[in-house]
Amino acid sequence: MVMWVFGYGSLITKAGFKYDERLVGFIKDYRRVFYQGSTDHRGTPEFPGRTVTLEPAEGEICWGAAYKISNKEDQEIALTYLEVREKQYDKKEYVDVFTEVNATTPAISGALVYIASPNKKVNVNYLGPASVEDIARQIVQAEGPTGPNREYLFLLEKALLQIGCKDKHVIDLANEVRRIISEEP
Ligand code: SIN
Repeated sequence: MVMWVFGYGSLITKAGFKYDERLVGFIKDYRRVFYQGSTDHRGTPEFPGRTVTLEPAEGEICWGAAYKISNKEDQEIALTYLEVREKQYDKKEYVDVFTEVNATTPAISGALVYIASPNKKVNVNYLGPASVEDIARQIVQAEGPTGPNREYLFLLEKALLQIGCKDKHVIDLANEVRRIISEEP
């Protein structure tokens, strides 16, 4: 059986595992939000960064990239890798991925997606909503072992524009981060 992994954050820009096919598409009834705290990649326990998670949102869609892994051994290697990389994401869901806006039949059924839930009991790093200004300030300050938090945001903004997706939440945050940086002494 082939396996598909759907990425909506850093997985769009860098899979990090071997795959046979990459398909740009979207999932339904979710929106991408910078509500997850990152203490292991783009921040530290003292100064957590912010990364994206998915929030249920009826009628909305979230664009990303799906990766097909056919070989059983490659699937196991990818899963082991993702369990470490996405370890601050406490939920695994299986979603339908669509490529055409008017399609009723998905291009892929049951793609694996990692979600950081708002349940603070199991997801201690969850940060939740805040104003664009506050989220942007936090992103400007944070840096972790994978690099500056602002780099994560800018890479995501670029990757989304490359696939033709104008995500207002991401663009607003990137613009605010650029504004803050431009005022830095
Ligand atoms: C994803 O990219 O699908 C999950 C969030 C992230 O790792 O940035």
